[in-house]
Amino acid sequence: MKIAVIGTGYVGLVSGVCFAEIGNEVICVDKAEDKIVCLQNGKVPIYEPGLKEMIHKNVTGGRLAFTTDLPTAVAATELIILAVGTPSLPDGQADLSYLIAAAEEIGRAMNGYKIIAIKSTVPVGTNEKIRSLIQMHTIYPFDIASIPEFLREGSAISDTLNPDRIIIGVDHEEPIAELLELHRPLTDQILVTDIRSAEMIKYASNAFLATKISFINEIANICEKVGADVSQVATGMGYDKRIGPSFLRAGIGYGGSCFPKDTEALIQIAGNVDYEFKLLKSVVEVNRDQRFNIIRKLELELSDLKGKTIAIWGLAFKPETDDVRDSPAIEIIQTLLSRGAQVKAYDPVAQDNFRRQLTHSSLTYCSTAEDAAAHADALCLLTEWKEFREMSLTRLETLLRNPLLIDGRNQFSEEQLASTSFIYYSVGRPN
Ligand code: UGA
Repeated sequence: MKIAVIGTGYVGLVSGVCFAEIGNEVICVDKAEDKIVCLQNGKVPIYEPGLKEMIHKNVTGGRLAFTTDLPTAVAATELIILAVGTPSLPDGQADLSYLIAAAEEIGRAMNGYKIIAIKSTVPVGTNEKIRSLIQMHTIYPFDIASIPEFLREGSAISDTLNPDRIIIGVDHEEPIAELLELHRPLTDQILVTDIRSAEMIKYASNAFLATKISFINEIANICEKVGADVSQVATGMGYDKRIGPSFLRAGIGYGGSCFPKDTEALIQIAGNVDYEFKLLKSVVEVNRDQRFNIIRKLELELSDLKGKTIAIWGLAFKPETDDVRDSPAIEIIQTLLSRGAQVKAYDPVAQDNFRRQLTHSSLTYCSTAEDAAAHADALCLLTEWKEFREMSLTRLETLLRNPLLIDGRNQFSEEQLASTSFIYYSVGRPN
């Protein structure tokens, strides 16, 4: 199939590359010329394991190309996938301006029947609005489909090539056969729904996963007070097939470009139809508060943070990505700085992106994990990179000025700590 993918962010780029990988002819389009030039030269603007190699393979195989020329790409293809960003506006609503601009341009460029699939996460009813908008700019027939994306950063390629399910939201029979044919090599678990339900499935799925995380974080907070171990609690709960074991890792709360944005947007979507989504509001509030447990634990041991040196391991919102959008590390470091602490931070991949978000005279970016830990009064682990887990704790103990370890991601075990004199705090586990 000949496919144009509009938008080369995470979703657009990975989907485009994966559709090429399974044998389609794909052209990825973006307005940002620097991004397209970078991709044309074999460079990848995001860090995602395996992506660079897969792009190279498909470009050389003649199945994948990059352009800023949307009209030519639209005219040359039969399926157009819209995957432009829908960032949050200050009030939490999704900003649809990129989507609207792209839809108008697609309408003007059409030269025959097209299927226009929307992968961007959009409020219920948006796909229908996009249809009306395109209709205003073209005389040609077309169908709209809502095909939400469920890939995770860091495992984007395997999530796309082996998805748990594909959701296809349509309001006509016509595009179904082609869309089924396109997705069948990926999975048999395909649900064809109406468009509004497809839009809702995306928000409901992210909101549910966010709810699981806030739930286990509150259980962890209670575990700390009653002397239970949240890891064992989560394992025990997860054996129940109705609950399932995933997304029950307690920590410092969720971040990233999806859960914070989509939970706020769903609260807004409900509010717009006079429904107060009380549960989701609490999920968001619990998540925001969870990160401050790091500060509370530091203050419990060090009392005043003024003049203290705090080492931070991990700045990305999760491992295997350089993405720092809505990373809990941002607010944690800002709070430490506002309390007068000196902060030494290290992340193996996300450091440059983080530096663009936050610079301060009391914040130093270090080139190794050991450099960050050296002479610090405490070390806080915020992202569960493998490199941190594999660090020798006996060596680490000699580096720190004070052996205080605040583990925000439950990376170290009792056995590892047994031969050290660390004062150790984790999340929801006995110290
Ligand atoms: C999330 C969803 O998992 C994807 O299905 C969805 O497609 C994507 O959003 C999106 O809407 O585009 P992503 O944000 O890349 O994917 O990353 P996740 O692996 O879901 O992690 C999100 C956050 O939750 C991270 O900060 C992570 O540390 C945190 N988390 C996750 C926990 O604190 N505990 C867990 O048990 C799982």
